[in-house]
Amino acid sequence: MQFTIAIDGPAAAGKGTISRAIAQHLGAAHLDTGLLYRAVGMKTGDPVEIARTLSAQDLAREGLRTVAAGEAASRVAVNPQVRAALVAFQRDFARREGGAVLDGRDIGTVICPQAEVKLFVTASPETRAMRRWQETGEGSYDEVLEQVRIRDARDMERADAPLRPAEDAVVLDTTDLSIEQAIAQAQAVIAERLGRVSRP
Ligand code: CDP
Ligand code: CDP
Repeated sequence: MQFTIAIDGPAAAGKGTISRAIAQHLGAAHLDTGLLYRAVGMKTGDPVEIARTLSAQDLAREGLRTVAAGEAASRVAVNPQVRAALVAFQRDFARREGGAVLDGRDIGTVICPQAEVKLFVTASPETRAMRRWQETGEGSYDEVLEQVRIRDARDMERADAPLRPAEDAVVLDTTDLSIEQAIAQAQAVIAERLGRVSRP
């Protein structure tokens, strides 16, 4: 069976955690598209050229999960040529036999507008900053909150593929949800939607 599940939302909302669980549950492939931008942002040189020649090795580099890599990613992600260079890889991945789960910012709006299921995972900035701070152990909570706010604003205000829910996305606010509750709610939406599209 072939299907695409698009999971978008702001930093540290729980997209990756939910996507991994869903992909495992369905036996589908998972792509964290933020890694592409993080890998481009952390390499020195012309970001457009780097995006065009990105390799699996670049995605396996250490240090891509840091706060600094997220910041570098959001800076190169405003460049339309960088974004364009990464489209084909993501669309090919989305068409994998056995199903694909992609998480990012523009999967439901730009990369896979035909996705069978679209989720927009969000949470309050304070909750997301607390999660990211606890996860990375970097800096102070206040510094991480400030960086989350700056990155949200840059991602939402850019002209090309800004962060916003697709019109047909289901919004999942995880502010007051445990990881288990968030995964269960996402699974319920996906089961309902995939059931609906597979009926004649
Ligand atoms: O992929 P994204 O940046 O949206 O978030 P994530 O990496 O899945 O989650 C960020 C952190 O929040 C991780 O340490 C998760 O374990 C944690 N988390 C949480 O505490 N509660 C949730 N409902 C979801 C994620
Ligand atoms: O895990 P977290 O949500 O903090 O970040 P990420 O998903 O790894 O994305 C890092 C940055 O890459 C984002 O702040 C965006 O600027 C950019 N990005 C994007 O523009 N489009 C995507 N599909 C994925 C990430």
